[in-house]
Amino acid sequence: MELSGKAVLVRVDFNVPMNGGVVMDDARIRVPVATVRDLQKKGAKVVLMSHLGKTSNKAKTRSLRQLIPAIEKIYGNSVRFVEDYLSENTRSSMKEAPQDSLILLENLRFYSQEETCDLDFARKLASLGDFFVNEAFSVSHRKHASIFGIPQFLPSDLGKNFRKEIQNIEGFFNHASGKRMAIIGGAKLPTKIKLLKRLVAKIDKLALGGGIAGAFLSYLNDDSSEIFDLTEYESDVKEILDNAKRFGCELIVPTDFSALISTKSDHAIMRSENSNTTVFDIGPDSVKLLEDHIVASDVVLWNGPVGLFERSPFEFGTKAIAEFIAKRTQDHKLISIIGGGDTGFAMKKFNVADKMTCISTAGGAFLNYVENEDCPALEAIRISHSKFGRS
Ligand code: 3PG
Repeated sequence: MELSGKAVLVRVDFNVPMNGGVVMDDARIRVPVATVRDLQKKGAKVVLMSHLGKTSNKAKTRSLRQLIPAIEKIYGNSVRFVEDYLSENTRSSMKEAPQDSLILLENLRFYSQEETCDLDFARKLASLGDFFVNEAFSVSHRKHASIFGIPQFLPSDLGKNFRKEIQNIEGFFNHASGKRMAIIGGAKLPTKIKLLKRLVAKIDKLALGGGIAGAFLSYLNDDSSEIFDLTEYESDVKEILDNAKRFGCELIVPTDFSALISTKSDHAIMRSENSNTTVFDIGPDSVKLLEDHIVASDVVLWNGPVGLFERSPFEFGTKAIAEFIAKRTQDHKLISIIGGGDTGFAMKKFNVADKMTCISTAGGAFLNYVENEDCPALEAIRISHSKFGRS
């Protein structure tokens, strides 16, 4: 495709942790590097668009201007910052920017029309460029103007990292030979019900950890302690268990767990029959059980820590499993796909992030894609392809 002198809008996710105006973790700023370099090599000017934070108030602490030093360092380019991208003057000066410029727009969420997916706003954004590339997999679950709206007005495609992220997840579901195992942890059952329902119908083994495992133990032990008020979810838990049997998915629940017995992190290992207390971590027998199942698997997808890993001694289970999966991956015996904000953070904490096959940059978007194998961002690209053809 001829890109020389053209402007390419690239939706990125530069929603990075900040402290006092300084970027605390620049991983997300690095994600689009390959895509941006490629476009620049072809002579395009690249217009980066992102949100920072959740609010639509124009607070200085949410301004993308703060990211300029970090972006310039990583991309080795000076950045032209555009604050008022809806004004005519600014728009025409953007048009005059030289070839291979790197332009950064102010926070998209400074306009409420971004989150309401206002198509007029999307059309104005689209008029800033000739092509659109979505390189923000971690926002792919949002039906926002920059994700879902712009592709309706411009020839559009996915960026390299976005493509890789979905290939990784598809690769898990479509793994032709061998056993597929998912490890699903996290604190809250309701956020994972849809995911669990989908997984039991599709994969070979499903292991549960964290508060989610606690909820299942409570159900299996017919526990009336009200630690987990299952009333609302009882039928979902039953459906997941029934479907696991029906589809031949082996469901693995912890056989022991760690519980807090005083406010000072004193803990006790309990057998899982005593589920009338909160599960803070899985116990040593459960770690061993999980390791055996991991050895018998060829590909593992992990979402959600198996314990409260931020708080000692409850990091034990998550750390042990992370190190075990990392070792098997490094020994070329396992494909490991890790996703979710907390899970990714745990992998960094235990120094295994670069030892896994892939770690998704996404939290909610990863979960959404595993649940649906589709997302608003992809839907929009399909609309663009049908209108403008594949670019
Ligand atoms: C994230 O941090 O997961 C993404 O940037 C999406 O942010 P959001 O949940 O505010 O849409």
